[in-house]
Amino acid sequence: MYVHLLGTAAGGGFPQWNCNCINCHGLRTGKICARARTQSCVAISGDGCHWFLLNVSPDIREQIASFPALQPPLHARRGTAITGILLTDADLDHSLGLLLLREGTPLHVYATSSIRQTLTSGLNLAPTLQAYSGLCWHEPSCSLAPLLCPDGSATGLLYEAFPVSGHPPRFRERALQQPGDRVGYRFTDEQNGKTLLFLPGLSSFEDIPHHYLYDSHALLLDGTFWSEYEMEEQQVGNTSATQMGHLPVGGPFGSLARLATLPIDHKIYMHINNTNPMLLEDSPEYASVRSAQAEVGWDGLELLL
Ligand code: MLT
Ligand code: MN
Ligand code: ZN
Repeated sequence: MYVHLLGTAAGGGFPQWNCNCINCHGLRTGKICARARTQSCVAISGDGCHWFLLNVSPDIREQIASFPALQPPLHARRGTAITGILLTDADLDHSLGLLLLREGTPLHVYATSSIRQTLTSGLNLAPTLQAYSGLCWHEPSCSLAPLLCPDGSATGLLYEAFPVSGHPPRFRERALQQPGDRVGYRFTDEQNGKTLLFLPGLSSFEDIPHHYLYDSHALLLDGTFWSEYEMEEQQVGNTSATQMGHLPVGGPFGSLARLATLPIDHKIYMHINNTNPMLLEDSPEYASVRSAQAEVGWDGLELLL
């Protein structure tokens, strides 16, 4: 399985257009040791020809330009290697990119009915896209199933979706959580059995089927905030990590403490907010991620599983 991280920042990217926090200002002025990042998006493939996007960020145009495998195949006047798109939720940073892919043939999008409803009632997304490329929704399978091409042929990947807790996006009228608002995915390479666990938004490890944590080869994980009150401490907002549905990385109950105990070969943080101190590659927070055998993901990071 090929895994290519197209974007590793949380909503807003890094630096964020209107932000002068220590990190954003520092990056703009070249005074910190950190890399710019586009918004959270991953591409995976079992055969190197058919690619699936895991969420689709508003930076998708630039992300396709950065990764030749997603560019139009040479033999076709128009075309794409993007075979399907799997959504974990209806968040804007995970779904707005759909509108930017409207010039092609119908998009094949895997999303739960709750996510579909949220995108349709809140953004009029499906009717809007119907006037352009068209959109074919697919209900994600809750048990191990082949991830197929639209014509039914195999791609070398299997997948399954599982529910995780977390809030619906702010634009949805009904603010109460409902089943299917958020899912995680696990992908399996049909040939070698290697597995990837995809959880760019995570509020609790309790949501993850226990055996996945002990029997996966790679984990892409929520790295939004280092600490619970980071937005307030950085003077850019007053919502806490928990209120936003994100488990902080640091601290005794943070994700890193748990991650350090897991026998997964590749443990990689993504969806990293621009305020997070682990973005600074000379910070103690960055060092503690590395010493837990985990990685602060960056745009362009690739895995071959
Ligand atoms: C999140 O990940 O919490 C959201 O993207 C925040 C937002 O709505 O900007
Ligand atoms: Mn987000
Ligand atoms: Zn910032």
